[in-house]
Amino acid sequence: MQLFLDTTDVSVLKDLTATGLVDGVTTNPTLIAKSGRPMLEVIAEICSLVEGPVSAEVAATEVEGMLKEGAKLAAIAPNVVVKLPLTRAGLIATAEFAVQGIQTNVTLCFTAAQALLAAKAGATYISPFVGRLDDYGATGMDLIAEIRAIYDNYEFDTEILAASIRTPTHVTQAALAGADCATIPPTVFLDLFKHPLTEKGLDQFMKDWAQTGQSIL
Ligand code: G3P
Repeated sequence: MQLFLDTTDVSVLKDLTATGLVDGVTTNPTLIAKSGRPMLEVIAEICSLVEGPVSAEVAATEVEGMLKEGAKLAAIAPNVVVKLPLTRAGLIATAEFAVQGIQTNVTLCFTAAQALLAAKAGATYISPFVGRLDDYGATGMDLIAEIRAIYDNYEFDTEILAASIRTPTHVTQAALAGADCATIPPTVFLDLFKHPLTEKGLDQFMKDWAQTGQSIL
């Protein structure tokens, strides 16, 4: 399973890519606004830090604008993935980018039928929003399982990118449901390392080791 960071915070990104566990990055207009920086500059900097896919989202809502913006974003670096909303216009643009060999991430997916359309349009990634479905009173993770079954039934290549991830449990459940990737906020990524028994156990090991008076080196 590939783990992406859902962030535009370059200093956090530098810190976490040092783990060797970050396979890519996703961004969205909200995260760009949060960065307070020009989008093209942030995406270029992220692409210089991460070899894997970096999703950059269009702001246009009609096909022509999406195609122009997507082409501009894709020209920033070879690892840019053009992110498009799951609308009729978004899927027409997705199909055109597929013909051009430009990678796409179709975002704001809330039903398996939407994911089916995205795969038929030739999307590279589909982003089902797990946490926002949970907020809405549904079980977001069910959507991942449904999409997995549909994509496997018809051997679609579109990768399932579990998004709107809020907890380490979401990451575990997405992995169990067969998501190809999950995009994770930095705070949740840091939480993935942690368990109280790991900390307690290590503390005890260090105390016992100190009592031996030994040194390995
Ligand atoms: O980037 C899309 C997605 O991960 C947003 O998550 O927490 O705003 O629902 P959230």
